Amino acid sequence: MPDPCIKLDLGHFAHSLHTLINSEDDIRRVNTCFWEGSVTIGWGLIGCGSIARRRILPAIREAGNSRLIAVMSRSIEKARRLASEYGAERYYDKVDDLLGDDEIDAIYIATPTFLHAPQTIMAAEAGKHILCEKPMAMNMDECLRMVEECRRNHVKLMIGHHLRFKPDSWGIRRIIADGTIGDVSLIKAQQSIWYNPDPTAWRVNPSLGGGGSLMDLGVHCIDLLRFILKSEVVEVAAFTQTLTFNYPVEDTAIVLIRFDRGAYGVIDSCFNIKHSRRVLEVYGSEGTIFGIGTISPKTGVVEVFIDGEKKTYKFEEKNPYVAEVEHFAECIERDEEPLISGEECIGTMKAAFAAYESSKKRRFIKI
Ligand SMILES: NC(=O)c1ccc[n+]([C@@H]2O[C@H](COP(=O)([O-])OP(=O)(O)OC[C@H]3O[C@@H](n4cnc5c(N)ncnc54)[C@H](OP(=O)(O)O)[C@@H]3O)[C@@H](O)[C@H]2O)c1
Repeated sequence: MPDPCIKLDLGHFAHSLHTLINSEDDIRRVNTCFWEGSVTIGWGLIGCGSIARRRILPAIREAGNSRLIAVMSRSIEKARRLASEYGAERYYDKVDDLLGDDEIDAIYIATPTFLHAPQTIMAAEAGKHILCEKPMAMNMDECLRMVEECRRNHVKLMIGHHLRFKPDSWGIRRIIADGTIGDVSLIKAQQSIWYNPDPTAWRVNPSLGGGGSLMDLGVHCIDLLRFILKSEVVEVAAFTQTLTFNYPVEDTAIVLIRFDRGAYGVIDSCFNIKHSRRVLEVYGSEGTIFGIGTISPKTGVVEVFIDGEKKTYKFEEKNPYVAEVEHFAECIERDEEPLISGEECIGTMKAAFAAYESSKKRRFIKI
């Protein structure tokens, strides 16, 4: 069987996506994801941990429209080191001091989940726009308060679901919207890893992380399925259990989802899987899509099967964290809603909390 490899020239991703995305609204959003303007937004960072160092500090440096003004760590020495490494003009060891820095327009929050809501609200009250890492917060009340306080203080809130900023995510979304694979009946996503940390790690402490693999990884999958299908979750059933490790959060989360347009979703997000291909599968009445390696910061390969024939789509390698930072800065400049605003993320968090409730009560939960 021939395997025509379709190479989309995503060196011009924004342009190429004009051919991939249907609605006017999507075209506008894609343009703002992949920014080519000249405004510079000043950033301040809270929490100098892994994601900040590996992804976002380099992304702010690479983004065309952003400048790192200051970093904040509980350790002034760590803050000083990172400020020097990434060219920040100032560094602090108190959130209040960072928020009092007039040159900062936007705050990036990269702390454990239990700090997301209080730090977002403090930043909003200080008049700063906020890019807050996932999961949005510990519970629904906190999520709603974050949205409300940002609205009240006229600042923007975006949640760090970087999978929305990937060419392959957009490509799959377009292929589905086109009707190429007909009506979607089933979509499956796996984001699972092997996670056996020091027992003091915040991710395995329910009062710091809010949950285990579902809060850490599953929220990405739920959000991705909502984005790709352009659908809302209406009902959820789940098992969240600790099968492999001794820590007090789940290492296994299997979630079944019913979407408002009739499709069903299956997610597994586990901390006890050693080798995952991070595959996304979409089954429709006319065909199937396999996104191989697409649930990852790297760009994967997209295979589409129609009538026994396979087409392979290759998308540009684009750093989703750079796209995320550029997009948020652009939204601030243009006074536009971010692609994954706090409000938009409410649908993801409702589904995640419903999954925990379903597992606890052993029944389906309507949203
Ligand atoms: N979107 C993504 O791809 C992605 C990937 C990984 C993580 N994340 C999210 O990013 C956030 C941070 O994750 P991470 O992997 O960077 O975690 P991490 O390496 O543990 O870093 C978290 C940082 O938060 C600060 N912090 C403040 N209070 C703390 C406390 N009581 N316990 C521990 N740390 C505290 C610390 O910075 P200081 O010592 O400098 O104060 C710490 O280094 C989480 O919400 C996580 O879910 C997102």
